[in-house]
Amino acid sequence: MSRDRTASSIRPRTVFTGDNLPVLRGHEPESVDMVYADPPFNSGRQWAAPIGSEAAGAAFRDSWHLDEVDKAWAGEIRGLNPALSAVIEAAGLAAGPSMQAYLTMLAVRAIEIRRILKPTGSFFLHCDTTAGAYVRLMLDAVFGYRQCRNELVWKRTSAHSKARRFGPVHDRIYFYSRSDAYTWNKVFQPYDEKYLESKYRHSDAAGRPCALGIASSMRYRLSDLTAPGIRHGESGEPWRGFDPSAKGRNWAVPRTWPGAERLPSGTRAALDALDAAGRVHWPAKEGGWPAFKRYIEDMPGRPAQDVIDDIAPINSQAKERTGFPTQKPLALLRRLIESTTNPGDLVLDPFAGCATTCVAAEQLGREWIGIDLSPVAVRLVRERLERELGLFGLDVIAREDIPRRTGRRSRDIKAILYGRQAGNCNLCRVHFELRNFTLDHVIPRAHGGPDDDDNLQLLCGSCNSLKGTRTMTEAIARFEASR
Ligand SMILES: C[S@@+](CC[C@H](N)C(=O)[O-])C[C@H]1O[C@@H](n2cnc3c(N)ncnc32)[C@H](O)[C@@H]1O
Repeated sequence: MSRDRTASSIRPRTVFTGDNLPVLRGHEPESVDMVYADPPFNSGRQWAAPIGSEAAGAAFRDSWHLDEVDKAWAGEIRGLNPALSAVIEAAGLAAGPSMQAYLTMLAVRAIEIRRILKPTGSFFLHCDTTAGAYVRLMLDAVFGYRQCRNELVWKRTSAHSKARRFGPVHDRIYFYSRSDAYTWNKVFQPYDEKYLESKYRHSDAAGRPCALGIASSMRYRLSDLTAPGIRHGESGEPWRGFDPSAKGRNWAVPRTWPGAERLPSGTRAALDALDAAGRVHWPAKEGGWPAFKRYIEDMPGRPAQDVIDDIAPINSQAKERTGFPTQKPLALLRRLIESTTNPGDLVLDPFAGCATTCVAAEQLGREWIGIDLSPVAVRLVRERLERELGLFGLDVIAREDIPRRTGRRSRDIKAILYGRQAGNCNLCRVHFELRNFTLDHVIPRAHGGPDDDDNLQLLCGSCNSLKGTRTMTEAIARFEASR
């Protein structure tokens, strides 16, 4: 378990109903192990779950307009990360204001997601080709180009017919790590039938339990029992009439399969044990050599690849189907969670939808937090945990408030205020770079002013000295008098 339990002030198994930005902003820094985000894709559509489905009532709009995006965000991004601002503006020039609005909305959230990730943490952003290329650039600017670990392609449907272009059948999932020290567990996917047909061409008459404790299936492939080089001692001596030294080789007993640890240590004894267990394939033809039978069960599977074509979309009959319009398969989420977290780690989904990430995390013994605009998410997470995991009466916390984080860094607050003030000093109204500003309490601390964002502002150095412990009214009067 790699999570520092004191790091997050939010209890696991919590679903927030509301906009994810303030909730992310209220989250402690470096407190989350993995974030999976599946935001709207900028499809220009209005999504709604069918009436009568489990997810009925869930709906969201996926069209974006610059005049609806908070103006402060663009200023905040400019102050905090000029490269990111340039990427978003370039996307606006290339693809239009809707793309610019969409990326601005995502970018302010990506900044927060990076902030709340532990140094060992990872981030997955799910999108499709509509905005994918721009999302990649945007995330490079937030996380760093070198932190992009994969551009995963998920084949979300088998075929799609489009006039005058190839059928679009895949989604993209961008995988970024917070640092080079990210958690990584190798996960495996089943071999596909073509691979099995080409490699596992031999079969036993029947699957049978093997003396070495392996339940052998029928299909196996041949693995060499010898290695190059002449050796003295048992490994170079003839066995059952086969002399490896005559071929310039030595006996090499395979030791990387489940059950191999039960083999005796000497070469001859190990070969005898393999044969007694039915794990030696004897050549049918003259000149052939005995080989090790490597069954499908001996192998963990194919290491998971960046093209995910073995996880099918949710079909109309699937048990996990809720009717939520953009529901993702649990198997997809399990693969992402398993590969980048350990049991007990904290997973967060800021666009939780019908709570697929929360359910997958629960299945894998991870802790989780979900956020969604729609109140349907909290209802569905409870229903799905009961229906799919048989977990009744689990203490799922539903919240609608905005969490408060302790010890917020002044750099984050300054960036937010910089956006809010459009880069201008709140007293002299002159525009400055972010680094030239100082944080000021509107109602001075000396007068009991709180540390809340609403009581904070940015002043340039000389205006801050002028204001001192004065109220704003007093400071403005003094400023006017000094001109
Ligand atoms: C593509 S769906 C997520 C589907 C989800 N991965 C699943 O498997 O069910 C996007 C979700 O983001 C939510 N959403 C959109 N904007 C949001 C915001 N600003 N804050 C929180 N949730 C938001 C929508 O209500 C919708 O449920």
